[in-house]
Amino acid sequence: MKQFIKFEERNLAEELIESAIRFKSSPLIQQEKGKGKRIGLIFLNPSLRTRVSTQIAASNLGIEPVVLNMDKETWALEMRDGEIMNKNTVEHIKDAAAVLGSYFDLLAIRAFPTLSNKMEDMDDFTLHQFIKYAQVPVVSLESAVRHPLQSLADMVTIKENLQGKKKPKVVLTWAPHIKAIPHAVANSFSEWALGCGHELTITHPHGYELDENFTKGAAIEYDQEKALEEADFVYVKNWSAFQSYGKIIQVDEPWLLTAEKLKNNPSAKVMHCLPVRRNLELSDEILDSERSLVQQQAKNRIFAAQAVLDKILS
Ligand code: CP
Repeated sequence: MKQFIKFEERNLAEELIESAIRFKSSPLIQQEKGKGKRIGLIFLNPSLRTRVSTQIAASNLGIEPVVLNMDKETWALEMRDGEIMNKNTVEHIKDAAAVLGSYFDLLAIRAFPTLSNKMEDMDDFTLHQFIKYAQVPVVSLESAVRHPLQSLADMVTIKENLQGKKKPKVVLTWAPHIKAIPHAVANSFSEWALGCGHELTITHPHGYELDENFTKGAAIEYDQEKALEEADFVYVKNWSAFQSYGKIIQVDEPWLLTAEKLKNNPSAKVMHCLPVRRNLELSDEILDSERSLVQQQAKNRIFAAQAVLDKILS
């Protein structure tokens, strides 16, 4: 495996899930494997979990992590090839990524979408510019369209909570938000849940349909109450509109997930990638209850990243 930017195939996903579970029980079992290697963790956007969990994962394997907040701490980057750089950008991605590729054995990049240039976002333009010019293995720390490390951690968390179910019913439910939020987590979750063979229902208000490239094979249900029936796992997430790209469409119905909405389903577990807006996306009563898997998901981010880095080192 030379890069990790999306779901590739079920066997590989299952191998990574098993590996993450092994690392969770013995985090330092391969602590010499990455000795002498260095990973650059490049953030063009904020992060708590991804930043820290990937550093810990690298350290557990003996890899030295170096974090670079490229949005604040380095020169303003020009991403487009062939530009006359007579405006605000100071350094071209071609030069910066080549330099980073010569400093590091691996690079990991977080590059959110613009939510204004749909075509560029859908092509994962920034991520691919890094890949093109860095010439070393690249791991996505969330790109314009996907967040595969989060999804791998989510699949590990589902596996840990299956309680004997072979094909769990997994529901991805839209939640309210005050800002326009990217589609990456929802896209990736759908891609991985379907890829891993789970039964997936996606529920959202009209106008919030996701890119069909990610949802083919899922049931789409506009009635949240109906979608939640007999769910084993409920994944809560906001995303902005995809068709009316990056827009927030007014929704009058209450889409906040509450304990009341799950009262007929006492065994359903609730997931969220965090950060979460309490009592806007998810109620306190759910987040602070036995149903909630959010802390387990966050912890599993370490071992998901460790499984991926270990596989790349192999
Ligand atoms: N879930 C997640 O990626 O969290 P951060 O944005 O804090 O890294």
